Amino acid sequence: MKKISLLLMSILAFYSCQKEEVKTISSPNNNLKVEVGLGQNKAPFYIVKKENEVVVDTSYLGFEFKNAPALKNNLRIVSVETASFDNVWEMPWGEQEKVINNYNELRVNLQETATPNRKFSVVFKVYDDGLGFRYEFPKQENLKEVFITEEQTAFNLTEDYKTFWIPGDWDIYEHLYNTTPLSKIDALSKRNHSNLAQTSIPNNAVNTPVTMVGKNGLHLSFHEAALVDYSGMTLGVDTNNFNLKSILVGSDNKDYKVHRTLPFHTPWRTIQVTDNAPDLISSNLIVNLNEPNKLGDVSWFKPMKYTGVWWEMHLGRSSWDYGMTKDKNGNWVDTGKAHGRHGATTANVKKFIDFSAKNNINGVLVEGWNTGWEHWIGFEDREGVFDFVTPYPDYDMEEVIKYGKEKGVSIIMHHETSSGTETYTKQQDKAFALMKKYGMHSVKTGYVGKILPKGEFHHGQYMVNHYNNTVEKAAKYQVAINAHEPIKPTGLRRTYPNTISREGLRGQEFNAWSSDGGNPPEHLPIVAFTRMLAGPIDYTPGIFNIKFNEYKKNNQVNTTLAQQLALYVVIYSPVQMAADLVEHYEANLKALQFIKEVGVDWKQTKVLNGEVGDYVTIAREERGTGNWFLGAITDENRRDLEINFSFLEEGESYTATIYKDGKNAHWDKNPLDLEITTLKVTNKTTMNLHLAAGGGVAISILKNK
Ligand code: NOJ
Ligand code: CA
Repeated sequence: MKKISLLLMSILAFYSCQKEEVKTISSPNNNLKVEVGLGQNKAPFYIVKKENEVVVDTSYLGFEFKNAPALKNNLRIVSVETASFDNVWEMPWGEQEKVINNYNELRVNLQETATPNRKFSVVFKVYDDGLGFRYEFPKQENLKEVFITEEQTAFNLTEDYKTFWIPGDWDIYEHLYNTTPLSKIDALSKRNHSNLAQTSIPNNAVNTPVTMVGKNGLHLSFHEAALVDYSGMTLGVDTNNFNLKSILVGSDNKDYKVHRTLPFHTPWRTIQVTDNAPDLISSNLIVNLNEPNKLGDVSWFKPMKYTGVWWEMHLGRSSWDYGMTKDKNGNWVDTGKAHGRHGATTANVKKFIDFSAKNNINGVLVEGWNTGWEHWIGFEDREGVFDFVTPYPDYDMEEVIKYGKEKGVSIIMHHETSSGTETYTKQQDKAFALMKKYGMHSVKTGYVGKILPKGEFHHGQYMVNHYNNTVEKAAKYQVAINAHEPIKPTGLRRTYPNTISREGLRGQEFNAWSSDGGNPPEHLPIVAFTRMLAGPIDYTPGIFNIKFNEYKKNNQVNTTLAQQLALYVVIYSPVQMAADLVEHYEANLKALQFIKEVGVDWKQTKVLNGEVGDYVTIAREERGTGNWFLGAITDENRRDLEINFSFLEEGESYTATIYKDGKNAHWDKNPLDLEITTLKVTNKTTMNLHLAAGGGVAISILKNK
């Protein structure tokens, strides 16, 4: 029986307001308080308090426009409305099945006191674990459209927080995280980066989610929710005053950053506020601030583990391109580059299908299957190059799909657009129709390189619309999207569940080829408390051949093997890659057993411990089986973690198989030292787990029948 959404909306008060006193709204448990009023020059401001301590001090709100006066001063509060909301909604797949959505709302309706008397509202939703607010512009006589040059949203903090940040790059999120006091943020020093195909850092600003830890243990994370038809927001940093201020991503082609016609509203500006690091991960603020599922039944997509023709290209063993190109008449012409190293051949893909079928893995990603890769990387004229329906001659798509179907393995489509957005938009109907014809329900998209049309950036309004339109169009063909080089996740997966996963961070691929040493051991213990708060991550874990010296002497993965296993639990995604080569898995079947068993869709999630940038332990219960899986990871420091299994069901017994760092394990000196033990556990069991430097622990906890 389904028991969903119990809507309990009650308008508590609605009144005209003569005096411009401060309006207050509290979280359901009264811990968080937001005050809103008019301050200097009758400008709107808000203040956030936690247990009566000021967290965000008087911070002003407003807009600047092209060809119109700013909208920030000389306002009056026309009316105020409050409401409470408490319901539960279901995720079709996710970190948990049921999500509680409980908040108090304050809507402050504002109007200019002089002509043109423009009107807008600021709406706050205050939850126990944070808040969101947005601007709403109703239909009105004197304002039909706006060209926003800047949104003036401030976050005026009161101390020099320890901050985990990446620069406010308008074109990519694939930066290493920095840990500095707020006052020492220097995003401009991150401008030169030889490993990025595109980058643009115009301001001393950070991208979101940006997470902060205060002296008394307060944890804050700033982000946005429901980014639709607007620009992504970076946060400009005033290092002298601990102030953050919105800086929207712009365009070189326009003298404004956002164009909207009224009525419209902005995305939610969000602040997660918790007493500890684990509660940040448990917070559902971002998804809760999004609208409910608009797609209805999405059971055509099933969460899955997948393998793929992928890592071998990043290692340089095979290539995306076939080495031949088509002439004007459609004949294949040897460009003189034919090398016989093409990865996406029928035979190679069948090898991945066989391996996947044997190991409880339901998908195979095939990159480099389609024409256009001869022109891959570093070329200017990218429009019209990639074709999303024409396979290379050595790839028999129909045969491969049929073969997969027989073995219960589906093929995952790949669309690398190389940021030629017009070519992709034009071909989408044809490309998705082809997928529908073959019963392919998911595609990995890619946007490497500077955006075409020139002058646009990955995170500006033009691209936000491109990414969102792609998701909506794909849904019509029952296609789910896993975007690389994407816009950041803002919880839209609630509204469009076919937004299954995305990159939007420095992924595993950097370990294969970056010239800066790859992702250091602290990378993922930071990511879990920053990027992961925004939504699912296609990190592509599970590299067993950690050093891969036979391919690349100067690159390696900077974790132990045990940590690679733990990532299947720690990092959430409904598509989780087993990224390594088949032969590397076949050389270590004992460790592979964990990947074979681990779930990808969860009934509930418990974050057992953690500190931002240091370590984290997460346990998740698989939907439909009652089995649990636990993952713990640490940074470059070894540590011992006391684990209490009280999350298990009372009275049940389980068989736990523990995959942990061996005595001599170390991410660099001895990454493959793995110890596997099996024992019975119940909800009374406690255990001390030792994690090596850069190490981890993965445990499968299978319910005894
Ligand atoms: C970058 C993506 O992140 C990577 O996964 C993919 O293999 C290449 N682009 C090629 O599309
Ligand atoms: Ca990438």
